[in-house]
Amino acid sequence: MNLFNQPITLENHLHLDFSQELKEDIRRGLLAKQKRIPSKYFYDDQGSQLFEEICKTPEYYVTRTELELLESIAEDLMQGFQEGDLVELGSGAHWKIQRLLEATDSAQRQRLRYLPIDVSQEAIRVSSQALQRRFPDLAIHGHIADFTGNLIGLKQSRPLMMILFGSSIGNFEFDEARDFLRRVTADLTQEDRFLLSVDRVKPASVLHAAYNDQAGVTAAFNKNVLTVLNRQLEADFVLEDFAHKAFFNLEAERVEMHLVAQRPLRARVKHLDMEFEFAEGESIHTEISQKYSKESALALVQAAGLQLVRWYHAQDEWFSIMELQKAN
Ligand code: AVJ
Repeated sequence: MNLFNQPITLENHLHLDFSQELKEDIRRGLLAKQKRIPSKYFYDDQGSQLFEEICKTPEYYVTRTELELLESIAEDLMQGFQEGDLVELGSGAHWKIQRLLEATDSAQRQRLRYLPIDVSQEAIRVSSQALQRRFPDLAIHGHIADFTGNLIGLKQSRPLMMILFGSSIGNFEFDEARDFLRRVTADLTQEDRFLLSVDRVKPASVLHAAYNDQAGVTAAFNKNVLTVLNRQLEADFVLEDFAHKAFFNLEAERVEMHLVAQRPLRARVKHLDMEFEFAEGESIHTEISQKYSKESALALVQAAGLQLVRWYHAQDEWFSIMELQKAN
């Protein structure tokens, strides 16, 4: 049997519901006293691309630190996962999973399958093709889907390693994160594993720079969400009317991103048949990026019914990966 050059399969699960959900989220978000847009709407093809650009800025330490950490722990991790499905939530670019797969040999890869899940079809297509070129012996089954939604039928009879990298869990409020982790691990057995990366609390100056890069890529990424609304909901936001703002909220230990109206203005959202008013200086809250201590990370996973198998820390503990299993 020839297992090489298996076709990549891509399944699209982004049905009409997603635009329905977008409409409802935007309606509710822009009617709130503190206006907000859920950060998951950043990631259209263009937004995913801009995020990849952020990762290349000198200030954004997150991706580099995570990749280095993954490289150093890949052998240990993959030794313990000889066969089964690697399910990566919000997979984006292929660099991170590639670090893990580089610690496997062809025989092991033929017992593995890689299942990337992402809302950006382009991100899945590009990353699957790159991985296929690098590892022709690996079966890849991509799912174009919102990983915060219902992911049913992912757990097969084989061992599962679920993966959420990029400290993406930090984009959720505590309760949302807990509920999400519970939901997504509901079908897991004690033998399955969950790799969860968390960005750690660190000096405010470092965090501030990381979310306010000199080249303005993060600002463009932030504003791109307005382009998404202009396109998807036929809104008429003028990007130049808004300024990027990101700061470390010391008390909540998280970075917050906002878009701040530079003058009093109105924006019309055709698909909602609504108009929204902005005072000068009024902001739309577009993202939280939670930074964790060991304690707050443990508190979160415990609340979600998970337990730590082991920690992996980057140098200086600027970034950590938790290997988790279902609590008994
Ligand atoms: C993709 C969630 C890891 O929170 O750091 C980067 C997104 N926002 N710069 C993060 C992001 C601004 C990012 N994650």
